[in-house]
Amino acid sequence: MTNIKILGVMIGTIAIYTWIANAIPQLESVVPEELSFSSDVSEAELVAAGAELYSGGAGCTTCHGLETRAPNLLTGYGGEGTIGTRCGTRVPGQDCKTYLHESLVNPMAYVVEGGFDPMVFQARVFSGAQIWALVAFLQDQGGVVTVTGADVAAAAEADAAAPAGGPMVASNDPLEIMRGNLCLGCHMLEGEGAELGPAFDGIGSRITTDRIRRSIIDPAAEIAEGFDHLAGSMPPNLADMLTARQLEVLVDFLAGQGG
Ligand code: HEC
Ligand code: HEC
Repeated sequence: MTNIKILGVMIGTIAIYTWIANAIPQLESVVPEELSFSSDVSEAELVAAGAELYSGGAGCTTCHGLETRAPNLLTGYGGEGTIGTRCGTRVPGQDCKTYLHESLVNPMAYVVEGGFDPMVFQARVFSGAQIWALVAFLQDQGGVVTVTGADVAAAAEADAAAPAGGPMVASNDPLEIMRGNLCLGCHMLEGEGAELGPAFDGIGSRITTDRIRRSIIDPAAEIAEGFDHLAGSMPPNLADMLTARQLEVLVDFLAGQGG
């Protein structure tokens, strides 16, 4: 009888993990590789590298692939055309190239209307060259590519002076992300970890998905019930060490931890 129960639990566990793996979009793709361009990089090379980042490691499609979470970039949005055509019309006095670069390094500066949550994009985990490649790819969606080798060279020089942080782990597996970013140094999950902060077991039935995301991006904004005495102990810069996709993988995974 006990053996049958154990077998049942095992099959149940495998089924749950298979479900989680399928529920998280493109879990298999990994953190983007570093790009090394010389200043005579061609437009086609930049666009190709940007395309690979966009649909691969950078995690953009996690939100921009679904109309519901973010405005579509590769097709029209609100009658405004693809991103390469609407980018120059957003902020008065800002040309397309400046607007797109600003959208990535400082996404809160301008928030597109439409009732979306503001975009969170961890520019610090990407190099200047990777960000310019993304801008070139976005300009190429119906517009003219004006990113040049000189932009890339200047960004590489700035990175050499103050290197980007880089993600702590090169994995999109939720457990590896949590172990590599010390989440389990303070939180418990299925008997692993430490008991300083609230346990992750059942967190998906205690708080909303949005609140989970906010708790990671801006831990001081809301303090977990019963943890007032520990306010401020969760590091405020954790999101800076995650790629956009890693953040969404964690949010989806935690939201899936039911009671
Ligand atoms: C967590 C979800 C999410 C991820 C991941 C994400 N975005 Fe966004 N993005 C949004 C939302 C929501 C908006 C609209 C609100 C705003 O402007 O902040 C937006 C807006 C934008 C805009 C401005 C669009 C316009 O019409 O002016 C650009 C450009 C953009 N994102 C590029 C990217 C790129 C490139 C990536 C990948 C490196 C990316 N985003 C990853 C959610 C996301
Ligand atoms: C140094 C310890 C520490 C680390 C590291 C840490 N946390 Fe926390 N976390 C806390 C504490 C303490 C709280 C409760 C106080 C608060 O809400 O700020 C908390 C709260 C949270 C909450 C809100 C829980 C609730 O029930 O409202 C979430 C979600 C969360 N942490 C996720 C994470 C994730 C994901 C990571 C890793 C990327 C992480 N934490 C790393 C200490 C930590």
